[in-house]
Amino acid sequence: MPTIAIVGASGFGGTELLRLLDRHPTLRVGQVAAASNAGTALHELAPNVPPGAGGARRLDAVDVAALAEADVVVLGVPDEVALELAPALLAAGTRVVDLSGAFRLDAATYAAWYGRPHTAPELALDGDAAAVYGLTEHAREQVRTAPLVANPGCYPTATLLPLLPLVPVVETAGVVVSAMSGTSGAGRSVRPDLQAAVVHGDVVAYGAPSHRHTAEIERHAAPGGLADAIVFTPHLVPMSRGILATISAPLASGVTAADVQERLHAAYDDEPFVHVLPEGDFPHTKAVHGANSCQLSATVDGRTGRVLVTSVIDNLVKGAAGQALQNVNVMLGLDETAGLDVIGVHP
Ligand SMILES: NC(=O)c1ccc[n+]([C@@H]2O[C@H](COP(=O)([O-])OP(=O)(O)OC[C@H]3O[C@@H](n4cnc5c(N)ncnc54)[C@H](OP(=O)(O)O)[C@@H]3O)[C@@H](O)[C@H]2O)c1
Repeated sequence: MPTIAIVGASGFGGTELLRLLDRHPTLRVGQVAAASNAGTALHELAPNVPPGAGGARRLDAVDVAALAEADVVVLGVPDEVALELAPALLAAGTRVVDLSGAFRLDAATYAAWYGRPHTAPELALDGDAAAVYGLTEHAREQVRTAPLVANPGCYPTATLLPLLPLVPVVETAGVVVSAMSGTSGAGRSVRPDLQAAVVHGDVVAYGAPSHRHTAEIERHAAPGGLADAIVFTPHLVPMSRGILATISAPLASGVTAADVQERLHAAYDDEPFVHVLPEGDFPHTKAVHGANSCQLSATVDGRTGRVLVTSVIDNLVKGAAGQALQNVNVMLGLDETAGLDVIGVHP
């Protein structure tokens, strides 16, 4: 039975992965490691895991040799921690899926957008042993054999899934992305700007025009990337989880609304987790709550000649732990949907 280990098992991404693994038919959970919360019972951090159903388990301290006994280790830690742990785990002989931004860019772009040098440039996108960018629907074959998978960011997942099939038919210099996220996107750390009293009843933009996910979207929107093309504005909305992204771009000359629908359906009709809705049917964030799904719909504004696509994901599932498990399933040759076969909620 293949084994998965987690570092960052006390974080929002880590506890969400444990929730998904609870219904996985074949993966065995090995080490579940944390830093300041090592020794804490899982139930104290994740009340959805009752003490009698695994929640009494105490989190492990980080031990690279013990972690490396697993077939794959998922890192749900800050990028600077992943920069240290991923090379050590790979050297110890295991495979790694990293939820952080540490390996999603080339080393120079990482340094420019994250404000610090890349300390494992061989594993960055331009390196000799480069990580595979794990947007599964668009990288399945590379993920299958990758020692290291850089799991995409939450906003980039919500943006790239609708954008990638349309890049050949839009004017890429005019792509505008406006997106909203629930507060779990910032992780479990306590911050004054994320208190319920501040967030409740409020919506605010942040990070524009230099949010790190701008560089990630540009880098992965086309082979070789798009240079200085994307205007990206994220917003914080008073929800626990969920992302809604609206992508607007001028259509190339002669491209019709039917062409747009055809491209999206061709890309995703055979995919288990990406659902193209009929034109005019706009997706709800709650419809993918807890699910590894992306729902999207496109419409063409004939007046301005622009295509408008809205997409929704759960930032903790398709935007983090769910896509990581999807990648793990592919890496280990398991059914890609194992542990992930649930839909969202309504109402
Ligand atoms: N939240 C999202 O929606 C989301 C989406 C996509 C990607 N991500 C990325 O996924 C990663 C985890 O995010 P998160 O939201 O789960 O963060 P989080 O809730 O803040 O959790 C961070 C985790 O990292 C652990 N950690 C911190 N320093 C460590 C160290 N030196 N050694 C080992 N473990 C350490 C923490 O352990 P202790 O609690 O024991 O200190 C905790 O388990 C981040 O890189 C984030 O950018 C998050």
